[in-house]
Amino acid sequence: MRTWGQMFADMAEGGDAGEGGYERACSLSELQAAGRKRVTVQGRIVALFHVSGQVYALDHFCYHAGGPLELGDIEDSHGRLCVVCPWHRHSITLDTGESLYTSINPANPKEKKYNSLKGS
Ligand code: FES
Repeated sequence: MRTWGQMFADMAEGGDAGEGGYERACSLSELQAAGRKRVTVQGRIVALFHVSGQVYALDHFCYHAGGPLELGDIEDSHGRLCVVCPWHRHSITLDTGESLYTSINPANPKEKKYNSLKGS
């Protein structure tokens, strides 16, 4: 399965509008220079990020309450690169778009907190 980031990287590398069924989002050099960019592709608003040599793409609006992910800080959370929503600070993994949250061990709440994927 190809990730959104891989598809957008392909588009950025060589796709002209309509070529191969792709829609051009922006050039890779433009994204590299900016580090992030909001684009609209086939009516969908997408936040593109260029971090550590990789291209990532997420829906621009946070699924919690619609915060603008394009404006979020990029942070490493226990080895996972995340964008931190500027509105309520949810951490969303760049590679999968999953939300991380801080959890505890209910049997020992004083134990060190750790980040988990929602639903795990
Ligand atoms: S809108 Fe993103 S965390 Fe609330």
